[in-house]
Amino acid sequence: MNLQTAIFFAPFQGITTKAFRLVYARHFAGVDKLFTPYFANIAVDYPLPALKMKALQHQSESGISVVPQILSKSAPEILSFARSCAALGFGELNWNLGCPYPQVARKKRGSGMLPFPEMVDEILDQVMPHMPLSFSVKCRLGYAKAAEIMDLVPVFNRYPVAELTIHARTGKQLYSGKTDPDAFGAALEGLQVPVVYNGDIFTTEDFGHISGLFPGISRFMIGRGILKDPFLPARIKGLPQPGDSRAVLRGFLDDLYFETRREKKDSPSALNAMKECWTYLMFAFEEPVVVFRRLKKAGNFDDYEDAIKEVFANDRLKIQE
Ligand SMILES: Cc1cc2nc3c(=O)[nH]c(=O)nc-3n(C[C@H](O)[C@H](O)[C@H](O)COP(=O)(O)O)c2cc1C
Repeated sequence: MNLQTAIFFAPFQGITTKAFRLVYARHFAGVDKLFTPYFANIAVDYPLPALKMKALQHQSESGISVVPQILSKSAPEILSFARSCAALGFGELNWNLGCPYPQVARKKRGSGMLPFPEMVDEILDQVMPHMPLSFSVKCRLGYAKAAEIMDLVPVFNRYPVAELTIHARTGKQLYSGKTDPDAFGAALEGLQVPVVYNGDIFTTEDFGHISGLFPGISRFMIGRGILKDPFLPARIKGLPQPGDSRAVLRGFLDDLYFETRREKKDSPSALNAMKECWTYLMFAFEEPVVVFRRLKKAGNFDDYEDAIKEVFANDRLKIQE
C-alpha cells in the first residue's frame, strides 16, 4: 500500500445520512473523507431550508472532513449551494455527474450529462471563476459508452477541478456488470487533474489489484465495500484491527440505531433506514440471507431490538475476526 493512500467513503442517498456519517466515523478508522448524498432542487439565492441545513450539520466527523454533493445542471444553482456550504464552513463541494437513474439522466442530469461535454464545459466555465470553495467532480466513464469520457478529458483539464472521481462504469450499467479499468486507464493518461478511482473495491485483494493496475493513483473512493465490511478501510491501510470485531460492529449498530431514531424522531422510517443499511451489512455475516430474514420481519422497534439480539447470539461473522 502507498503510504499516502487516501480512502473516501462514497455517498449513498438514504444511507450515508448525517447520523450514519457521525456514527461511522466514531467507530471505524481508515476513511479520509466522507461525502453527503446529493442535494438537489436548491432555490437560487434563498437561504437553505431547515431540513437541508440539518442534513448539512457537521463539516467534519471525528476529524474526518465531510464533503457536500450537488446534483444540478444549473450554474446559478451550483453557485448558490456553494455559497451556502462555504458559509457553513465546508471546504469542498462535489458535483454529481454520475447518477444513473433514468428519471435523472433523461433530463441531462447526473451521468445523463456525460454525452454532452459542451454542457459540462459551459457549466464549469460559469461556475469556476466564482466558486468560493474547492470544487470536485464525481462522474462515470460515460452514460451509454465508456468512450464518452475521452471527450470530457480536455474539458476537465481546462479547469482547476480539485479532484475527479471516476466510477469505472457507464450510467447505463447502473451498479452491475463489469467495471472497465481499461477505459479508466485511457482517461487517466490524458487527465491533468487529481483522479480518484471508484468501483467494486470489496476486499483488500480488490484494492491490491486496482492499485497494482494504477500505481499513480493514491485516492480511492469505496462505497458498497465499506457498507458490507466497515473495517475495510482500516484493513487496506494496515491499521490495527480491533481484537473483538463483533463487539465493535454491535457498538456501531446500537449507536446508529439510537442516532437514527433521534434523527427521525422515532418515526417508523428509522426502522426502514436501519433495514436499508442491513441490505449491505448482512454480507458481513457468513449466512447473509438468514441474517436479513431475521431483521426483515421486524415491524416495530421492539421486534428490531430482538432481531439484533438474535443475530448477535447466533450468526457468525464472515469478515476477518
Ligand atoms: C443506493 C445507492 C445510492 C447512491 N447515492 C449516491 C449519491 O447520492 N451520490 C453519488 O455520487 N453516488 C451515489 N451512489 C453511487 C456510490 O457512491 C458509488 O459511486 C457506487 O456504489 C460505486 O462504488 P462502489 O462499487 O464502491 O460501491 C449511490 C449508489 C447506490 C447503490
